[in-house]
This record gives sequence, structure tokens and C-alpha cells, in this order.
Amino acid sequence: MPAYPRSIVTCIEDLRILAERRVPRMFYDYADSGAWTESTYKANQQDLAKIKFRQRVAVDMSDRMLNTRMAGFDTAMPVALAPVGLTGMQYANGEILAARAAARFGVPFTLSTMSICSIEDVASHTEKPFWFQLYMLRDRNFVENLIERARAARCSALMLTLDLQILGQRHKDIKNGMSAPPKMTIRNILNLATKPKWCLDILRTKRRTFGNIVGHAKGVSDLSSLGSWTAEQFDPKLDWKDVEWVKKLWGGKLILKGILEREDALRAADLGVEAIVVSNHGGRQLDGAVSSISALPAIVDAVGSKTEVWLDGGIRSGQDVLRAVALGAKGTLLGRAFIYGLGAQGEKGVSKALQIIANELDISMAFCGRRCISDVDNSILVTGTYPCITSAS
Ligand code: GLV
Repeated sequence: MPAYPRSIVTCIEDLRILAERRVPRMFYDYADSGAWTESTYKANQQDLAKIKFRQRVAVDMSDRMLNTRMAGFDTAMPVALAPVGLTGMQYANGEILAARAAARFGVPFTLSTMSICSIEDVASHTEKPFWFQLYMLRDRNFVENLIERARAARCSALMLTLDLQILGQRHKDIKNGMSAPPKMTIRNILNLATKPKWCLDILRTKRRTFGNIVGHAKGVSDLSSLGSWTAEQFDPKLDWKDVEWVKKLWGGKLILKGILEREDALRAADLGVEAIVVSNHGGRQLDGAVSSISALPAIVDAVGSKTEVWLDGGIRSGQDVLRAVALGAKGTLLGRAFIYGLGAQGEKGVSKALQIIANELDISMAFCGRRCISDVDNSILVTGTYPCITSAS
């Protein structure tokens, strides 16, 4: 393998390699893993890569535009940053840094319930409203309280996650004894000793555990084991009535994330939500579920114009964004792609990830003979290279 300078970052994979070096093993693994055999995690990327473009020539490629709208918000490209738990463990103050980079670039940022920096903290260190992602917890008073806090912090949309009532098993988290902050075991100390920059930054911040929970949820003072807390607190009974309850309580723009089947998509669309996200939670929940991109066409077909359909899972390039848009997604969510940037270089790395994706999207769209996002449809794809129907109708 030729040795290229690591400082020259040209793609998301370069950021991933840098993040793997800088971030402690347990947090790198937390982000970069799927449930059980990781087959769905891998399929998300593999199925996207199978979709081929039709290259056009001798067409005017000047004056291109990537901007569009997602849930009524102007975005610089059909991309928003996905909610990712423990973002502030990839890089100190990570949620604030990612929200700032997203705002500067002109794409929405979504703060996870399981973030390290709290809703209030992110709001007071950023200028632009962000979106808040909600998990349904057994303690409904706490859920009401979270919704109230999101409103008070001027969050402009609520994203309710529907596919994590119970947690899929990720082997590495168990083996690593994943916790925030990390426990001082010999194994962790040895690993942390190889990550001096990360350690220095984390020592300098006060944000080291789950900011939305600790000090807010009753009886929670130590939330170091995400797995056991999730098992105790997340509500396995979540149903469509709860979704309606959240919708009413919030009263603003609502996005439902974690849908893979037509009938669920239709049910969600009938509630009159702003958008649904076709997602298998980055392959972190049901191992063996279909890839997000292969579930997309049937859902777009079923839902029509009732609501916007977005996609997450496996997006590592602008070409992937273009594939999703060509198959009918009005927007996409980036999870790991921005997390690698953050872990590698903090705020600068998130900006870099967004620039990389935008540049790839722009050039690829042009090669397909299109000059703006609204002109992209499945006629830019080679028929037969993309999935059509994966769910029973
Ligand atoms: C939470 O969103 C997780 O996948 O760990």
C-alpha cells in the first residue's frame, strides 16, 4: 500500500481512519458497529454501491444548485445530521461543535436524547435552532419534560425514533464495557494512554455524561451503562397511540424515524407528520433487516405525496445521497459520515465531511446531466441495478 499523507483528506474513509486513531476504542466501536452479525449494517452500504448511474455527455453542466427543502426548512443540500448518541464522547463538546458546523454549512443538526451536551447547553452555544430526537421512555413525565425543554430551547422540529423500544445487541459494546465516562479498568487505561489528545480535551470539559438525563430524570445520578439504562427506561410498549400523544403534546413539526415497511409508512403518513425516515437505525437494531435503500422505493410508492420520505443508513458519499434522492428520498440523514469527521478533527472535521459530501453530490449530479436537485429522479439510474419492491404490499 502506498503511504499517502494522512493530513490530506479527500473522502469520508480518510476521516474514518483518522477517527479510529484518535477516539478511544469503546466510543469508536460504539459508532462503527451494527447489531449481532452486522449483516444489515454492511448491507446499507453494499446495496447503495450496487446502484449504477447513467452518465450523460454534451449537456450543459453550468450553474448547478444543491439546495432544497426538508420538512419546510431550507437546506444547502438534501442532507441533515442524524441524531447520534454519545456524540460528545467522539470529541469533547461534540454536539455543540457538530451543531455549529451544520449551521455554518446550512444543513439541520439533530440532537439525540442520549447526547452528552444537553439541549439547553447546545442551544446556548449555538445561534441556529436545531432539531431534537426523542425516545419514548416509560416515565411519561420525563418525556413531557423533554418535549417542554426542546420547545423552550427553540428546537424547530422533533424527531421521534420508533425502532428502539428495546436495544439490539452490539457485541463490541458489551465486550468493551462501554460507558460514559469510561470506567478506569486496566484495559481502558491502556487504550486511553494511546489517545492523549482525546484525553486532554475531555479533561478540559465538564460535559462527560448524558446531559439530557443526569440531573433531570428521577433517580438517575449515574448512567454509565447505556445498555442497562435503556433496558430499564425505554418503553417497550410504544404504539401508534403514543405517537399521536407526542404529536399533540409537541404541536410542531414532527419527523418519525425508523420505518422499513409500507404499512408502517402509511400509518405514519396518515398521522400527518412532516416526514418519515426510512431507516434500520444504521443496522444497529434488527440484524437481518433489509437495507434502508432497498426498502425506500416501495415506501415512496406507497406514501406518494402524503409526507416527505427521507433515508438514512450507509450514506458515505455524495453519490449515495444522489442514489437516495434518485429513488425518491426528499432528504437523507448522515450519521457515521459526520461522526468520523468529528472524531478525527472536531468541528473542522464535520465541516470537512459536509464539504466532501456536497462536492461529490454536485459533480456526480452534473455527470448524470442534471443541474439541480429537483431534476434528479430514477431516470439517472441504470434500470435493474436498484431494488424495486422489498416489502409485501
Ligand atoms: C442509540 O441510538 C444507539 O443506536 O445506540
